[in-house]
Amino acid sequence: MTANLHVSSHPLVKHKLTLLRDTATDHRKFRELVRELALLLGYEATQDLNLEPAVVNTPMGEATGSLTTEIIGVVPILRAGLGLVDGIQELLPAVQVWHIGLYRDEETLRPVEYYNKLPDAPTVQLCLVLDPMLATGGSGIATINILKRWGAKRIKFLGILAAPEGVQALSDAHPDVPIHVAELDERLNEIGFIVPGLGDAGDRMFGT
Ligand code: PRP
Repeated sequence: MTANLHVSSHPLVKHKLTLLRDTATDHRKFRELVRELALLLGYEATQDLNLEPAVVNTPMGEATGSLTTEIIGVVPILRAGLGLVDGIQELLPAVQVWHIGLYRDEETLRPVEYYNKLPDAPTVQLCLVLDPMLATGGSGIATINILKRWGAKRIKFLGILAAPEGVQALSDAHPDVPIHVAELDERLNEIGFIVPGLGDAGDRMFGT
């Protein structure tokens, strides 16, 4: 579809996504699967992190290795993006978490911003935008607009499901932003839900 799009082909991602979609999966299990998927997708999305040589002392002497040097910020889009934070923090314990609050107006499907406490100047070198659902792409685009205005230079989008419409819109608006997801679904339906999808990720995560 677009060169920006990276759909995981890992068997564990496919397995966990299938369980996640299932209506028989309860809220507790849903949150656990989202956390595990975030960790696996985060692993794939960070394979080009910058490394610098580093020397450490093993019990047997010196070893030359490598350490990651980039300061990373994760940017969960409230609410549903929150579910992806724990898995990413397990992988990257030192990340900064910057929350952005957006909801989709149910009539227009346009994102409405309601929370943003970013400081004046950027404090990170790589931003991972977290939102399980890339539907029309409006929320992702609006968040990346905010981050670029903030001064963020290197940004990636990490989600679970994407609709082709959302991938197209996001890569048209931000061709420099790679998109990492567990699956590219068929389409959006008439009320802007991803089909076959998994329903409303926020509602299933938080029991609302
Ligand atoms: C859902 C979802 C994404 C957004 C995706 O959020 O979690 O944030 O819609 O749609 P888009 O790509 O068309 O913008 P929702 O507005 O339901 O808010 P919530 O996360 O608080 O449930």
